[in-house]
Amino acid sequence: MKELIGSITEADALEIRACRAEDLEALEWNGAHTAEREIIAQTFDRQERDEALMLVAAHRGFPVAQLWLDFGPGDTATVWALRTLPPLRGRGIGARLMRRAERAAARRGHRRLELTVDPGNPAALRFYARLGYAPMGEERVTYRCRSPEGEPWVWTVPHVKLARTLSASAGPSATYRTGASRR
Ligand SMILES: CC(C)(COP(=O)(O)OP(=O)(O)OC[C@H]1O[C@@H](n2cnc3c(N)ncnc32)[C@H](O)[C@@H]1OP(=O)(O)O)[C@@H](O)C(=O)NCCC(=O)NCCS
Repeated sequence: MKELIGSITEADALEIRACRAEDLEALEWNGAHTAEREIIAQTFDRQERDEALMLVAAHRGFPVAQLWLDFGPGDTATVWALRTLPPLRGRGIGARLMRRAERAAARRGHRRLELTVDPGNPAALRFYARLGYAPMGEERVTYRCRSPEGEPWVWTVPHVKLARTLSASAGPSATYRTGASRR
């Protein structure tokens, strides 16, 4: 980890791209998100079906940050699971992932991006406000993962819902290779 931090001087040193099958184990961040293995795999399957996009910011092939985007059937796409490795926060990586997600959603014809935040996470609320996301009330969010023993964990908590309107010209186009089934 020390070598990795020392070598990133600019967020530009990162490659932002769609998650690949070979990234899935690394997305668990050496045990920090092992409980979410199943949901990571399910979201990757949905990406293969072109229903979602898992963006990663990779440094030397390792996903140091990630964001998941659900393409809904209507006007609205939903961002979730945005996270940057703690030592690399505050370097603009999260903002770059959000802008990529906005462009990807706009290219799919979505006009609005939504997400939810734990009200006990004021730093994340400030981060999204700075990116133009406005509060739209409260929503109950259900988390699902597995304990180390394999038991299902499910809990529901109130979150703040945030949203932003996407402009039709949401930036330069880019393509994401998300799976053989797309083409
Ligand atoms: C929120 C998060 C994704 C931002 O990622 P990032 O790569 O640090 O994003 P950026 O560098 O583009 O923006 C940093 C901003 O995030 C916020 N932030 C939240 N936690 C932070 C932290 N531990 N260190 C630095 N900034 C943090 C700050 O408001 C900061 O704003 P500033 O630049 O005005 O100081 C990241 O802090 C994170 O992974 N947090 C834990 C998971 C989480 O809360 N995800 C959002 C849930 S909806």
